[in-house]
Amino acid sequence: MKKEKNPLKVFITREKIREKIKEMGRKISEDYEGKEILLVCVLKGGIVFLADLMRNISIPLEIDFIAVSSYGASTKTSGIVRIVKDLESSIENKHVIIVEDIVDTGLTLSYIEEIFESRKPASLKICALLDKKDRRLVKIKVDYLGFVIPDKFVVGYGLDYGEKYRNLADIYILPQE
Ligand code: IMP
Ligand code: MG
Repeated sequence: MKKEKNPLKVFITREKIREKIKEMGRKISEDYEGKEILLVCVLKGGIVFLADLMRNISIPLEIDFIAVSSYGASTKTSGIVRIVKDLESSIENKHVIIVEDIVDTGLTLSYIEEIFESRKPASLKICALLDKKDRRLVKIKVDYLGFVIPDKFVVGYGLDYGEKYRNLADIYILPQE
């Protein structure tokens, strides 16, 4: 896509993202030195982040995927999340890090966290690229975080609006209509 044809405003550049993920990967590699980890990517938004993050981690790792969807139109009110695609293998006794594109209300991650805890991992942490802190409805501890962002809808770098824009290399603010 040509830059001048793109009506969206760049919010976080690919260079900034690359630098931040390098740091995050280094931190994770240090924290888990001598261990193996399992990165669980939350589909679909997390895939671009996962792909870059895993290449910046130097310790042995495996990856797996989970897909969830919220019941009804409003995640805000129900807070009920359903597993659409579960993990391929057991996480029992594994050092698990959930890899998510963005934390908004926190409902999705708190649900995944609860399910995962019941499966008895050796440890469980959360890694998210973006965090809209002001929108939080439930308490979530994000152990590895890229950027805190304001309450704006963002797209690109895996993040979508109506399934579009995931392929953009930078992160953009979607203009409010
Ligand atoms: P939560 O359960 O409210 O924390 O919802 C998090 C999910 O909502 C993320 O995994 C995204 O899929 C989606 N989401 C929240 N904010 C945005 C945004 O600004 N752009 C794209 N997707 C978003
Ligand atoms: Mg998501």
